[in-house]
Amino acid sequence: MTATYKICLLPGDGIGPEIIAEAVKVLDALGAKYDVAFEYTEALLGGAAIDATGTALPQETLEAANASDAVLLAAVGGPKWDTTDPEKPRPEQGLLGIRKALGLYTNLRPVKIFNALAGASTLKPEVIDGVDLVIVRELTGGLYFGRRERFYDEEGAGANGARGQRAYDTLEYREYEIERIARQAFEAARTRRGKVTSVDKANVLETSRLWREIVHRVHDADYPDVELEDLLVDNTAMQLINRPADFDVVVTENMFGDILSDEAAQITGSLGMLASASLGDGTALYEPSHGSAPDIAGQGVANPLAQILSVEMMLRYSFGMNEAADDVNRAVAAVLDEGWRTGDIKSPDTPDDHVVGTVKMGDLVVERL
Ligand code: IPM
Ligand code: MG
Repeated sequence: MTATYKICLLPGDGIGPEIIAEAVKVLDALGAKYDVAFEYTEALLGGAAIDATGTALPQETLEAANASDAVLLAAVGGPKWDTTDPEKPRPEQGLLGIRKALGLYTNLRPVKIFNALAGASTLKPEVIDGVDLVIVRELTGGLYFGRRERFYDEEGAGANGARGQRAYDTLEYREYEIERIARQAFEAARTRRGKVTSVDKANVLETSRLWREIVHRVHDADYPDVELEDLLVDNTAMQLINRPADFDVVVTENMFGDILSDEAAQITGSLGMLASASLGDGTALYEPSHGSAPDIAGQGVANPLAQILSVEMMLRYSFGMNEAADDVNRAVAAVLDEGWRTGDIKSPDTPDDHVVGTVKMGDLVVERL
């Protein structure tokens, strides 16, 4: 009997609709090859949802996501919805809201370089040689979801007034939140090179001191076979550039993970290549690590590979289709080995006739499947 998987598509904003279309082509090709039926429901998220409904995460979107076996998200946001007014909706609320609502506390962001793209990094070849790490970012706690407020009082006063604005965000972690993300990191390490770097700011923050204690407790009790090191976040930022190949699994809290994952992505020189998976209690969500690139939206030049590689992660983690996932990775590698490039990953020696747009890149991957 043909297996059926329901996939909720969230194209979002900017280049989102263009790149997600290429991922769907890849899924359809694999469905035919492996006799699996992929059924799609499309829903609104982010700026597109704000325009249509006034909110970044409409109830129907959440229902569609919950009713699916996996969610494939492209990207949200753009200058059209940029505002610092706390009363106005922001596209990012859609993304944060869906992560929270689906209980997606684990965000996996693998950073690995395709051989053909080694020259795209701004780091020296000998520094990036062998880079293969994954950032395990806690995704539903910390500053992103803590109590926050903006208000007026005397202490907040600026140069001209008795009362002024004040604002705060709260960084809070509960023991169980740290424990479950630590387990995810140790489990991931066991399938890889067996090393976890736990990143915190334990020399300053109380949440970090708790983090460190819990990570070590979980390690000593259940994962003594995994190598564990602690690294302060500022030092990590430095070491990631200095000796990126030494890292295997990097586990950290939400905000540090956000920052370090952009930095780690840049090691490869091609943010347009990196996928991510958000896993937890509910339906898992897969998305590229990059944003909605509003500056190139609608031009047909966006790189769809990170979106396509998100499909690879979906096949692996949500559907257990490891062979199909390997196919996707091989197909992408083959296309790159043949020298095909979108604008963001081309180099000075890429011949003009090998610089392709979004649709052509998707077609090439499908052909190599
Ligand atoms: C990311 C993004 C999001 C985040 C934004 C868009 C809210 O930067 O997925 O890393 O900060 O989590
Ligand atoms: Mg980010």
